[in-house]
Amino acid sequence: MSYNLLKGKRGIITGALDENSIAWKVAEKAHEQGATFVLTNAPIAMRMGEIKVLAEKTNSEIIPADATNVDELTNLFTKSQEILGGKMDFVLHSIGMSVNIRKNIPYTELNYDYFMKGIDVSALSFHKMLSVAKKLDAINEWGSVVALSYMAAQRTYPFYTDMADIKAMLESIARSFGYQYGLDKKVRINTVSQSPTKTTAGSGVKGFGDFYDFSDKIAPLGNASAESCADFCIALFSDLTRMVTMQNIYHDGGYSSTGVSKEVMEKLAEK
Ligand SMILES: NC(=O)c1ccc[n+]([C@@H]2O[C@H](COP(=O)([O-])OP(=O)(O)OC[C@H]3O[C@@H](n4cnc5c(N)ncnc54)[C@H](O)[C@@H]3O)[C@@H](O)[C@H]2O)c1
Repeated sequence: MSYNLLKGKRGIITGALDENSIAWKVAEKAHEQGATFVLTNAPIAMRMGEIKVLAEKTNSEIIPADATNVDELTNLFTKSQEILGGKMDFVLHSIGMSVNIRKNIPYTELNYDYFMKGIDVSALSFHKMLSVAKKLDAINEWGSVVALSYMAAQRTYPFYTDMADIKAMLESIARSFGYQYGLDKKVRINTVSQSPTKTTAGSGVKGFGDFYDFSDKIAPLGNASAESCADFCIALFSDLTRMVTMQNIYHDGGYSSTGVSKEVMEKLAEK
């Protein structure tokens, strides 16, 4: 349903790999709410070609950019302003990748080259994007930047290995940069801490299926879907959340505030 919440707003949406991606749903909803935007992903992700379907559907252009590469990010922000005809009002950082997780390497035995790669792709890329945007003065006053995080930044989930530390860094960058960018240009920066979600990145985590069910049984509202996460991102991009910045906001159906649920207790009592 369109409330025209983003009517006249311009943005950049990263990370739409396929129709399960959270970013994919954000793009669909942003289009529905009247925004115009550029889609971007790593050049290697373009090979799958699915992003073209989304671009057609949302009447958007695609600019490939490796989010670890400052020159490519500079090109992304410069060209996006040309294509859309002005500065950005919103940016979605929806980028995550850990080689240690992909290769099932336990936390106590992490490969440090992979760890550095994970930090660069999943956390430093956020700093790089913000730094490029600020240098180019490419985001309008009261613009809104959102990155996606996970609660392993606050609590330990053994299978989430190095991504836990990386998400903690991502959330810290949102606060540190949020202060600077807020002071200078009134740009707000937040992270959304999302429930486990069945996407390519999510399903790559060992034992994801069981954990997804566990989390669903703990949260009184159940796991938040990718679609509802997209709704929340739209709310954060809109003018209705203008004084929200430097926050990590849980979007998890109440999971983060629940110690144990009745349902899980009953399951344990069955044994
Ligand atoms: N799926 C979950 O359970 C879950 C939960 C909480 C937070 N998140 C976060 O949501 C975000 C989006 O992930 P998703 O679940 O939609 O999975 P996804 O696999 O659909 O999206 C991850 C995206 O990152 C992109 N990417 C990887 N390396 C890149 C690079 N160098 N430059 C540019 N893009 C690059 C991929 O191409 C892909 O589009 C990630 O930050 C993820 O950690 C996911």
